[in-house]
Amino acid sequence: MTDFAGRLRLGVNIDHVATLRNARGGDLPDPVRAAHLAEEAGADGITAHLREDRRHIIDSDIDRLMDTLRVPLNFEMAATDEMQKIALRHKPHAVCIVPEKREERTTEGGLEVAREENKLAGYIAPLREAGCRVSIFIGADERQITAAHRIGAQVIELHTGAYCDAHAEGNFEIRDRELEMMREMSAYAHSLGLEVHAGHGLTYDTVTPVAAFPEVMELNIGHFLIGESVFRGLGPAIAEMRRLMDAARA
Ligand code: PXP
Repeated sequence: MTDFAGRLRLGVNIDHVATLRNARGGDLPDPVRAAHLAEEAGADGITAHLREDRRHIIDSDIDRLMDTLRVPLNFEMAATDEMQKIALRHKPHAVCIVPEKREERTTEGGLEVAREENKLAGYIAPLREAGCRVSIFIGADERQITAAHRIGAQVIELHTGAYCDAHAEGNFEIRDRELEMMREMSAYAHSLGLEVHAGHGLTYDTVTPVAAFPEVMELNIGHFLIGESVFRGLGPAIAEMRRLMDAARA
């Protein structure tokens, strides 16, 4: 079982630098340069999601990240044969299995693990054998967390999107209920021996209560940080997130 030792890690998701690059075609801005800046600014890891439609990160970005990053890469991917092959070729530090729908703008919900247990257990086994830490992006739902544990995942990443959306919409009753569910489910996942991560939609306004959950070991944050970097630069944007995370934990 994991313990609570060590500081809360920050994984910086660089997908949206690639979104901007792809909007124009060409090479700029370079998400790998952003990853190196994030490293210098104190990111503990870099997260990148290679989607089936390559709408942001592309294969050569993953090649370059694997070749040049000093911090671990958390490779987000859908549970497809193509992505499994790519992950097995690169053997990143971690793979995070996410649901993926072509028509969605971002990853909208957690993975349905309980209904797909056998299939997913077989899918992640070779990734584990290759030495990747396997994480499952999941809602704060006891049934799904139990299933994630049963299939042999080492990590779950709790989807914080509904909590963040409720906060942005001023729907504080739902926000607080989402937060409470995540609090309970972090403790439950930890009791099973799963390492707990969280992410999606987190901002300076929403990060503190999630960072304060003692079981959460890592937050993965992208869209807000890349947006904020337009105004204050990527390094300062990350430094402020780091400060809030440390303060929440203190
Ligand atoms: N974690 C996972 C599994 C995700 O799919 C995403 C979005 O790509 C994030 C974290 C980061 O979300 P955001 O970009 O909204 O901070």
